[in-house]
Amino acid sequence: MILVTGGTGLVGSHLLFELVKNNQNIRAIYRNKEKLESVKKVFSYFSDEVTILFNKIEWVEADILNIPQLTEAFKGITKVYHCAAFISFDPKDYHTLRKTNIEGTANIVNLSLANSIEKLCYVSSIATLGNKEDASLIDEEIFWNPEADNSVYSITKNGAEMEVWRGTQEGLDAVIINPGIILGAGFWHAGSGLLFKKVYNKLPYYVTGTTGYVDVIDVVQCMLLLMKSNIVNQRFVVVAKNLSFKQCTEIIAKYLNIESPKKQATSLMLAIGWRADWLKSLLTGKPRMFTKQNATSALTITDYNNQKITKALNYNFTPIEKTIERVANQFLKEQ
Ligand SMILES: NC(=O)c1ccc[n+]([C@@H]2O[C@H](COP(=O)([O-])OP(=O)(O)OC[C@H]3O[C@@H](n4cnc5c(N)ncnc54)[C@H](OP(=O)(O)O)[C@@H]3O)[C@@H](O)[C@H]2O)c1
Repeated sequence: MILVTGGTGLVGSHLLFELVKNNQNIRAIYRNKEKLESVKKVFSYFSDEVTILFNKIEWVEADILNIPQLTEAFKGITKVYHCAAFISFDPKDYHTLRKTNIEGTANIVNLSLANSIEKLCYVSSIATLGNKEDASLIDEEIFWNPEADNSVYSITKNGAEMEVWRGTQEGLDAVIINPGIILGAGFWHAGSGLLFKKVYNKLPYYVTGTTGYVDVIDVVQCMLLLMKSNIVNQRFVVVAKNLSFKQCTEIIAKYLNIESPKKQATSLMLAIGWRADWLKSLLTGKPRMFTKQNATSALTITDYNNQKITKALNYNFTPIEKTIERVANQFLKEQ
């Protein structure tokens, strides 16, 4: 039986759909019953048989920080997909980020070892890769730099990845994927979904930094293929295309049928922007929306090399414009 964590999130819900479609025996953990509606919504994008497919999943209430609950959830499990994480760049969330991402992953690794599971797939991030001084592409061999001005998210995703590597030293077979920004429909309040919402609400400025983007459907396919393969104890950059934020917002705007931002945000504007955001958060107690590290990445060229995964799996990624078109169409339907 397969265990999925983070099934109520963007990656986990799309993964669950593929697993149930293929008649796999699945157990998924959840924390809040209301979040199960997001899973049904994602299933409805791909099938008319939402209830039938949803009911094939054995849902178990468990927090990855609750060892007794997790111990129950691990009974009879042979494979684990660990997608659960807390995503935030707000330094105020550092404690929760450490708990969820590092301690939570340590719990998954320990129970995977204790239950002698066959293989673990862990969803890491490009945030655990280092940066390069020159213009060449970043790959799996560019290691995280503890001396850099890392975001709180990056620190804790790196700590989580270290827990998985530690597990492999103790006998666990694991694969790690390092996706770029994951594009998919249904979660418009966070991550790339929020980007669609912001562009739709007429984002005033564009920025020139670059990063890697990938379709959630490709992320899931890479996870499934890696788990089926005999590849173990390796990590893979999962990026379809590198784009500047300007290019990405232009394509999103095109498919949302609105004007793309025309004015470039200067480094001075970004420097003022993150400080203003800090002050606003201090005075109002509201979460940070734009941190110092966000400002830096908005201007930095970080391009990724996907050769390792494309060669290992003989995989062709969905063209990113097609992905953006599909997600934008869904976004417009839900307005
Ligand atoms: N989205 C991206 O662009 C992106 C890019 C690179 C890597 N990643 C990585 O991909 C993975 C999945 O991301 P996503 O976009 O699917 O995130 P998401 O939509 O925010 O979903 C996060 C999932 O983790 C669960 N979770 C959080 N804390 C938990 C806890 N203490 N116990 C149990 N479950 C918990 C959430 O459950 P609730 O519904 O109960 O909150 C939710 O199911 C994460 O590891 C993330 O770091 C994401």
